[in-house]
Amino acid sequence: MRRKLLVANWKMNGSLDLCRRMFPALIDVARTQPEMVICPPTLHIAETVRHASGTRIRWGVQNVSEKAAGALTGEVSVPMAHEMGCAYAIVGHSERRAFFGESDELVADKVQACLFHHITAIACVGETLAERQAGQAFSVLARQLRLLLERFDDEAWRHIVIAYEPVWAIGTGESAQPEQIGQVMRFIRHFADAARPGLGQSMSLLYGGSVRPDCAEHVFQSEDVDGALVGGASLDVESWLAIYQAACRSFDLDSLQQAA
Ligand code: PGA
Repeated sequence: MRRKLLVANWKMNGSLDLCRRMFPALIDVARTQPEMVICPPTLHIAETVRHASGTRIRWGVQNVSEKAAGALTGEVSVPMAHEMGCAYAIVGHSERRAFFGESDELVADKVQACLFHHITAIACVGETLAERQAGQAFSVLARQLRLLLERFDDEAWRHIVIAYEPVWAIGTGESAQPEQIGQVMRFIRHFADAARPGLGQSMSLLYGGSVRPDCAEHVFQSEDVDGALVGGASLDVESWLAIYQAACRSFDLDSLQQAA
């Protein structure tokens, strides 16, 4: 069964105070499916552990180094994240690709580091507005996915989640339309299947880009969407809970559990 999950990407936002306000409100609401994953800034992971240990809330980092250790000032390694109980790492977010020059090769190396240390990688892909307007959305996605499909076998793919985040929808308040999301998700599944038969139907696909309480249900209505990566709206307790609850309703957990 495809794993369902809602991932909060706090980016370089939040504070210890936000952790102290947020977690107590989430603990009783979080279920096993869809998983609730919080990715705070790395400095707030310890506070997250304090609140979320022993609950159904999972946590992760927003970025990791591809190296396990070394003289790399300012970097955080996967073994360190693992030691802090992180179950997930976001890898290749478009902000990392655009502002920190991360290439497809580096993203694949980071995914590999995650898998080696038993952390599920949430690998982000997505086209810019210019690429979409030039009719290049699918070729960009194909390029971003190709290396991952070549390098990782079916067993590895059980620990890789793909987040489709159109760059033009991130932080703009303009989520992609459900038809656009559905079309891209189907493309990703077909593309994955062509490389690795069967993978397309078993991989988990998230949508990210201005997911808000008012559009969450529309986002989840595509049968190819397994959850969301949420930025801005995950910083507010009420919005985050509203999106999480929309996911619980949309994924019809009873029937999922019966099918499991
Ligand atoms: P947003 O960010 O929800 O604020 O658009 C999503 C993301 O960048 O992961």
